[in-house]
Amino acid sequence: MSEQTIFQRPRAAARRHPAHPLVTPEMWDRIDSILQRHRNMRGALIPVLQQVQQVVGFLPPQVQQYLAQGLGVSPAEVFGVATFYAFFSLEPRGRHHCKVCLGTACYVRGSNKLMDNLTETFGLKKSGGTTADLRLTVEGVRCVGACGLAPVMIVGEDVHRKVDVVQLPEIMKRYE
Ligand code: FES
Repeated sequence: MSEQTIFQRPRAAARRHPAHPLVTPEMWDRIDSILQRHRNMRGALIPVLQQVQQVVGFLPPQVQQYLAQGLGVSPAEVFGVATFYAFFSLEPRGRHHCKVCLGTACYVRGSNKLMDNLTETFGLKKSGGTTADLRLTVEGVRCVGACGLAPVMIVGEDVHRKVDVVQLPEIMKRYE
């Protein structure tokens, strides 16, 4: 089937969508719309990956393959870009993304204790990860540029400053 046919008949094309348990038919439709908007556009790969990640939450291999086909580039190119930039994720992420700053200023003020508490509470590896119910992704990050507020933790768009470990249960209740 030609690329044109795929985009002109998104519903019929749904049969051709690769199977992935976390990518719904609605998501595939939105992916088709994103591809359609970027057809024949130079330098489309990064914006397409960004928009598709907003839809799906991450970039699994099946989606990468589909985007490569839709954009007429090689799967290796898609994979190369998706793994080069830190803001792309190849693994599922939780609904809430919690970044604990492990930079020096935060570390000496106890951010490692925040990390330990969060990973123990949510049953994650010491280095972080994503909960099985996709509620939360915890990640240790380098200095986020707010050292005067150490220790700093960022959840989604919220910056939590001078966080004490005893505050964590109350803070995390906001992110169900
Ligand atoms: S070390 Fe944490 S904000 Fe700089």
